[in-house]
Amino acid sequence: MSLDHGLLLFHSHFSSFEAFVWSVLLVGTVALWLSPGGIAWARFRSKASFSIPGPVGLPLLGLLTVFNGSTPHHVLAKLAKTLNAVKLMAFSVGFTRFIISSDPETAREILNNSAFADRPVKESAYELLFHRAMGFAPFGEYWRNLRRISATHLFSPKRIAALEEYRREIGIKMMDEINGLMEAKGEVQIKRVLHFGSLNSVMATVFGKKYDFVEAGDRFELEGLVSEGYELLGIFNWSDHFPLLCCLDLQGVRKRCRNLVSKVSVFVGKIIEEHRLKRVSGGLKYDCCEVGDFVEVLLDLEKHEKLSDSDMIAVLWEMIFRGTDTVAILLEWTLARMVLHPEIQAKVQAEIDSVVGKSKLVSDSDIHHLPYLQAIVKETLRLHPPGPLLSWARLAIHDVRVGDHFVPAGTTAMVNMWAITHDEKVWEEPERFKPERFMEQDVSILGSDLRLAPFGSGRRVCPGKAMGLATVHLWFAQLLQGFKWVPCKDGNLELTEHLKLSMEMKNPLVCRAIPRT
Ligand code: HEM
Repeated sequence: MSLDHGLLLFHSHFSSFEAFVWSVLLVGTVALWLSPGGIAWARFRSKASFSIPGPVGLPLLGLLTVFNGSTPHHVLAKLAKTLNAVKLMAFSVGFTRFIISSDPETAREILNNSAFADRPVKESAYELLFHRAMGFAPFGEYWRNLRRISATHLFSPKRIAALEEYRREIGIKMMDEINGLMEAKGEVQIKRVLHFGSLNSVMATVFGKKYDFVEAGDRFELEGLVSEGYELLGIFNWSDHFPLLCCLDLQGVRKRCRNLVSKVSVFVGKIIEEHRLKRVSGGLKYDCCEVGDFVEVLLDLEKHEKLSDSDMIAVLWEMIFRGTDTVAILLEWTLARMVLHPEIQAKVQAEIDSVVGKSKLVSDSDIHHLPYLQAIVKETLRLHPPGPLLSWARLAIHDVRVGDHFVPAGTTAMVNMWAITHDEKVWEEPERFKPERFMEQDVSILGSDLRLAPFGSGRRVCPGKAMGLATVHLWFAQLLQGFKWVPCKDGNLELTEHLKLSMEMKNPLVCRAIPRT
């Protein structure tokens, strides 16, 4: 055999071998990708006695594009129906395994199971120190301690009541601001006003500080830090789902997070230091109420419970962060509904007038006597839950069964609360805004009834729910007592949703607020 002939033979063998390897790889990848739920589920399929139905999604990417869109909760709800996977659906985003339930009973099983008491920590959350704060801390002693401390000192009924006067004061300031905007522009973009009020209220509870409605100073700086944090946590970060990309920081998320954390550390660190100095000089006075603020509580912890300064910063920063957005967004949706449904607005204003009167300012103690007002807030939470996918998901700590299905440790579990609250099998006329439904039946929204659980359920249920609701009820009542809410002259009002960290109105509400006196 000549050398040329030998080389040719080797080359043709090599090519056919190479072709063979490529075909095996291709078939393997397609087979993996085509397994229900996509590529991240492929190696667990043989273990699952009853495999979970789910879309295959795009090769390698899975349902990544769904989460890049503005309404993933709609797409996931539709997919679950189409694939007959309402109870439980599996899918992949890159190499991350997900399950999602759009059914109240399965949702209860997931949220109340201690196997799902962890949260997946995205890179941004980790970089922003949130793994040391309550919302992302792993299930365990540290997390339990934080929940206990905040339940006793931050979210207790006594504390919520102690801050009522200040919440009312902020409500009045918001009304002044609205009057000013109406005089200057003839219309109000309410989101900014609500966001300011909400941030101020949380600042008082957490830092014991009061701020004015001015676009400068500490409050303005904090608002900038909070919005940068929202943006970073809301970004879909490729590194979270493609481990190989981790070191590259392609979207610059890590860099921006580190930059933000150093600014937050300076800002919050300064407030902690001010508290320490006041204690030493004996000049401890509270800006906002008699019961002290959360910084004081953390500084007072006994030795074995004491937090390091960086943990304290993480805990305080998270409270500011979590408490601001949700309350402002819920109020914006509620007011938008009032503009759209003048007959409902007139009915609730009549309720306020008959219970409170027109001259006395509404207060927390009146809220119990305003069932229709509470029903409106519930109906808004049903149609526009601020966390349609319950904001921050859960993570399976160990292998577990959900119904007949095997779910491996490390799977991210979600509940599509939006799908449940829009399901005609669960709610009559689900698309209709009808607060009367809650006058006819008493539905608890605090986590025991999974048909409407906007604050989640189980061990990691929202600890700020009573405080959030007290704030929303009071401000909503004040804003209704003071103004009639009507559309702008062009009459345009869109209810399009945009899910960022919470579900916002895509086009912020702009309307007119006509004084009622
Ligand atoms: C309308 C207002 C609010 C809504 C709709 C809301 C919603 C939620 C939801 C859906 C969760 C996840 C629950 C779960 O996994 O089962 C959550 C967790 C949490 N919320 Fe809220 N929230 C609100 C107000 C607040 C306020 C005012 C604060 C504090 C100032 C707060 C602090 C937290 C924290 C720290 C967690 C994490 C708890 C943990 O993982 O242990 N929230 N919230």
